[in-house]
Amino acid sequence: MVEKRATNVTWHEYKIKREDREKLLKQKGVLLWFTGLSASGKSTIANQVCYELFKLGKLTYVLDGDNIRHGLNKNLGFSPEDREENIRRIAEVGKLFVNAGIIASTAFISPYRKDRDFARELVVKGRFIEIFVKASIETCENRDQKGLYKKAKIGEIREFTGISAPYEEPLNPEIILDANRLTINEEVKKVLDYLKDNKII
Ligand code: ADX
Repeated sequence: MVEKRATNVTWHEYKIKREDREKLLKQKGVLLWFTGLSASGKSTIANQVCYELFKLGKLTYVLDGDNIRHGLNKNLGFSPEDREENIRRIAEVGKLFVNAGIIASTAFISPYRKDRDFARELVVKGRFIEIFVKASIETCENRDQKGLYKKAKIGEIREFTGISAPYEEPLNPEIILDANRLTINEEVKKVLDYLKDNKII
């Protein structure tokens, strides 16, 4: 957790609340937190889920690790401290999206349990949905379009998740997607079914 440095700052209550925006948008603000190894399919699934929801008239947004690291988080690397800060910022941004009434998805490896739990705690209760995209290293290596696993194995990339840096599997995620077996369409359907079954959409 980053130390709070600013003093003399006062919290202002907003006149318009999440509930007001949700009424306007006719949907619930929710954060779909995809976690899993690089190349497990997080971004692809998140994008497709958002697309399907968009077609149903829902306002959605995807926050993607690789993309966010081009901008907001471009000053962060892959040390445990930088990953923690990466996730802390995205958790805070995710919270803003939820309060804006949007169905937001995050696609970050987010390898540390404590960082994901931090995100969960930040978001209004019942609106944080952890989705574990469970793929073996072999599955990820086979799909590795960016060739990162190869580079990690020969030491060209250091601290690579699953090879030379840890990934802590979720203990109690809302959804587990068996990425070794399921197709992208099946994974997307499982997420949409969960949202319907739990009256989120
Ligand atoms: S996280 O661990 O901090 O959550 P994040 O999801 O933002 O990671 O970024 C992961 C992406 O960065 C991977 O999909 C991969 O494309 C790229 N990457 C580059 N170096 C590494 C590394 N050392 N470990 C993991 N991913 C890396």
